[in-house]
Amino acid sequence: MLLYIHIPFCDSKCFYCAFNSYTDRFHLKHEYMNALKLQLRNNLDNYVIKHNKKIETVFIGGGTPSTIKPVEYEEIFEMIKPHLEEFAEITTEANPNSASFEWLQSMKNLGVNRVSFGVQSFDNDKLKFLGRAHNSNSAIKAIQNANSIGFKGINCDIIYGVQNDTLESMKKDFDTAFSLPITHLSAYSLTIEEGTKFFDRSSVKIDDEELSYKIFDYINTKGFHQYEISNFAKNKESESKHNYGYWQHKEYLGVGAGAVGYVNQHRYYPSKSLEEYIKNPLACELEKIDENDIKTEKILLGFRCLNGIEISLFNEQELKKINDLVNYDKVYIENDKVFNKNFLLSDELALYILD
Ligand SMILES: C[S@@+](CC[C@H](N)C(=O)[O-])C[C@H]1O[C@@H](n2cnc3c(N)ncnc32)[C@H](O)[C@@H]1O
Ligand code: SF4
Repeated sequence: MLLYIHIPFCDSKCFYCAFNSYTDRFHLKHEYMNALKLQLRNNLDNYVIKHNKKIETVFIGGGTPSTIKPVEYEEIFEMIKPHLEEFAEITTEANPNSASFEWLQSMKNLGVNRVSFGVQSFDNDKLKFLGRAHNSNSAIKAIQNANSIGFKGINCDIIYGVQNDTLESMKKDFDTAFSLPITHLSAYSLTIEEGTKFFDRSSVKIDDEELSYKIFDYINTKGFHQYEISNFAKNKESESKHNYGYWQHKEYLGVGAGAVGYVNQHRYYPSKSLEEYIKNPLACELEKIDENDIKTEKILLGFRCLNGIEISLFNEQELKKINDLVNYDKVYIENDKVFNKNFLLSDELALYILD
């Protein structure tokens, strides 16, 4: 079982971001964390303790987890510690702006062993264009601090495909990232989301598949292997076990406003509104995921990453199509699993097989 905890507060709203986060509800932070503990208690009792399960990974995401004081997380860690697997991966996202040395140190003391920084770029003009609240130096300092504190895993999020990005400008960003003690890099192609400042400004995004391929190659030359469309790790050990869990279609608890959980073939969706969530943190919408949906999801997710897909999942007609794809050199079969050779084609391959 995986555990996701959502922190829906940000110091400012970046121009591209549609995540469930608020910049004007800081007065609700304490009440929100109390509500979150109620939902966590309930979810642990019903889905972990009752079924004798263990928590393999924890991911505190957002929004911006570093907008919350470490003391507010103490009880959460007390609640989850008895149920953690040995050596569980515990990640927190953090914004270079608010993740001070003291904040990082306190989170490490609580048990966090991996930190994921929303850096986006080391170019101050690009950071401004994206509406980020930090600058290049604060990102560099935050990563160095995390390393000196002793985090085992350090990730850096970078966004590409933004107006004016070129292979050369992106190489500069990656060179800076790789000059720092990171173990993992997430390189996200900008998506234009409804409800953001960038929506309706299509010129903001560069749609250039060639740029993506060149970026993947460049990151590879730096010794980081691609294990999912947007994710690269220094070695197998440094891959994000939490994200890998999602791609393997494992069950996960989703705690917090706008989080999503998946247990017993059901997705559950707590309210996105802070006020409603605080009023009733146990209320959620339920969605049944039938066998067909599960199969489609396993194929889509398996093609996006190095995990591959069990061959036993496919019927005869689908296997014929997979054979075609093997002949076209698009996929390969090994140890009763099908593997994709080009992650950017994952959706097309899945559609071709399932059509
Ligand atoms: C929840 S945020 C990370 C933590 C923290 N909130 C921060 O931004 O510093 C997760 C990551 O998703 C990526 N992201 C968010 N919106 C995106 C978009 N529209 N296109 C591409 N990447 C996006 C960013 O790289 C961001 O760092
Ligand atoms: S990218 Fe991160 S800091 Fe920016 S608005 Fe989204 S969640 Fe908040």
